[in-house]
Formats: sequence, structure tokens, C-alpha cells
Amino acid sequence: MQKEDLDFFKIWFLDYVDQFSSPEVFIQENVELKIKHTARVCENILLLAKAENLEEKDCRLAESIALFHDLGRFEQFTKYRTFKDSESEDHALLGVKILENAGILSILSREEEDIILKAVGYHNRMEIPKCTETTREFLFYLKLIRDADKLDILKLVSEDYEKEEEFRNPALELNIPDTPGCSENIVADILNNRMAKLADVKNLNDIKLLRLSWIFDISFPAAFSLLREHGYLETILYSMPETKEVQMLREHIENYLNAVETRARIKAMKKDVGKV
Ligand SMILES: [Fe+2]
Repeated sequence: MQKEDLDFFKIWFLDYVDQFSSPEVFIQENVELKIKHTARVCENILLLAKAENLEEKDCRLAESIALFHDLGRFEQFTKYRTFKDSESEDHALLGVKILENAGILSILSREEEDIILKAVGYHNRMEIPKCTETTREFLFYLKLIRDADKLDILKLVSEDYEKEEEFRNPALELNIPDTPGCSENIVADILNNRMAKLADVKNLNDIKLLRLSWIFDISFPAAFSLLREHGYLETILYSMPETKEVQMLREHIENYLNAVETRARIKAMKKDVGKV
């Protein structure tokens, strides 16, 4: 992908989202939230792509995916006043539809267009397609956007938990009540290193645990390093009530993260030895 292509996409994006600016504060705030989220996901994906030593043209492809990954959010929020896909529509598929209707990706090669559309369409799925010869390249970019996206949502929510309740954004927490306890299914998912399901979320503790369970979908070592560096997971963990169950989950998550780090360190050491 050429630099001019990415520049054109950035201008098109700003022009596209401009139509959703609203005199209504609730809409305007959430439109701005997603514009800023998109900008930070673009930064994140570049950090991850560079850590993976991608060439410039491939970094631009990754950045385009980040730019478009939440394109459907603007129409979704304006139309349904929620970010909850189950109460409106799948914002990833909506984004693909918007991109296809706009026809802007036709300036790229068929392969690049295909990777962008698929990565946008799959970025919010619970499960990703199996790795085969034909899906390998797209899966690499899909994992990049999933990590970059999760990094920013974890940043947003962890910052939100540090605020006084009256200053929190209700749209971020999908209007969920703050009742005691947590869902059995979500606890089981975490203990089995699986991402929790939104359908099991009943209260604020559940949504916090669901966010924490995203670590089981994080793929790149650089994403784990950024999570550690910023302490997002710790903020979420320590914003939860100090029950035995929460302590057990906290320990499980910390053990998982330590194991991932150890594996990454061993892999890096083997690479270094290979170079000698
Ligand atoms: Fe999204």
C-alpha cells in the first residue's frame, strides 16, 4: 500500500464521521469517544506492527485496518443510541457494508482490499477462523487489530474505574447494574483461560472480569508489554471487591501473565542464540 492511499483513507474517514456530529451531547460525546478510540488504535497497531518488524507498506495496511475497524460504530450509536451489538446490529459487519458501499478500497490490490474487509468484519468475533495456507496472512492482521483494539478499550475502562461514579461514562459499561457477586460461567471461563461471553454478563463485576478475560485473546508480546507498562489490568483488578473469588481469579490472571512473559523471554533468548 502506498502512502497516498493511507492519506486518502484518513481524509475520507474524517469526512465520513463528520456527518455524525450532533447537537445532542450524549450522541456527540460518544461519536468523539469513537473518533479518539480510532486514533489510539491506529497508534497501538503501529507500535505492534513495528515490534513485529513489518515493512512500511504493511504498517500502512495495518493502520488502514485500525482506521476502519469501528467505522460501523458511528451509524450504530446514532441510530440505536447504544454500542451493544445484541441490542442493535453487529458493528463490524455494518462497517464492512459501509466500506463496500463507499467503494474506496478499490484503489488497493484485491489482496489488500480483502484483508481489510475481513479484518474489520472479524475484529469483534468471539472466535477467529482456523489458520490455513489461505488465511495465514489475514489472520496475522486480524490478531494485530484485535490486540490494538483491546489495548485501548482496557485503557479506557481502567481510566473510567479510577473516576468518581458520577463522572463515569454509562455507555462504556453498557448500562449494567453494580450488584454483588459474579457470574459462574464467567469465573469458569477465566479459570479455563477462555474469553468470557457478553451474554453471561449480569453486573459490573462481570463486565470487569469479561474485560480481564480478553488477555486470553492477546497474541503479540508487545501487547502484553504495553499492558504491563500501563498497569491497566491491575487497575481493573483492584477496582473489584476483595472477595475470595476475586482474589483467586486475580492470582490465576497473574500466573497466566507471568507464564506468557516467561515463554516470550525464552523465545527471545532462543532467537538471540540462533543469531550467534
Ligand atoms: Fe469494534
